[in-house]
Amino acid sequence: MNRTILPQEALDKLLEQARDAARQSYSPYSGFKVGAALRLTNGKIVTGTNVENGSYGLTICAERAALVRAVSAFGPEIRIEAVAVANLNQAASPPCGACRQMLSEFVLPDAPVVFPASDGTRTMIFSDVLPLAFEMKLK
Ligand code: THU
Repeated sequence: MNRTILPQEALDKLLEQARDAARQSYSPYSGFKVGAALRLTNGKIVTGTNVENGSYGLTICAERAALVRAVSAFGPEIRIEAVAVANLNQAASPPCGACRQMLSEFVLPDAPVVFPASDGTRTMIFSDVLPLAFEMKLK
């Protein structure tokens, strides 16, 4: 019921929106401009960009910026059916480990993740991008 097969056109459009988001990047320290776009099962697309800080460790990545926007706008029941990441630096940028873990609570396991790899744009399903997500389960 949660499975969604998305046409390539939809992924291309999502990637374009991620690229647009990267133009808003606040990255004076690294110069690395990242954008992310999340397609939700409610049909909405939510974007984010990286926001750096002079206290470097406080920086938030584009993917997590998009995620917190999505939950803030549409609530805790959202499900992500596709993720796109882009950067304006012609570099590889798969989502970092922290972003993978954060996404894992909301993303469908078979959601496509599109990102710039060293050999061009790559698409993988989320469960291959993060095979062993931590899940909080209290006994
Ligand atoms: N960055 C992202 O936005 N997403 C990632 O998945 C990895 C890294 C940002 C954080 C920082 O502003 C810049 O890229 C360099 O690390």
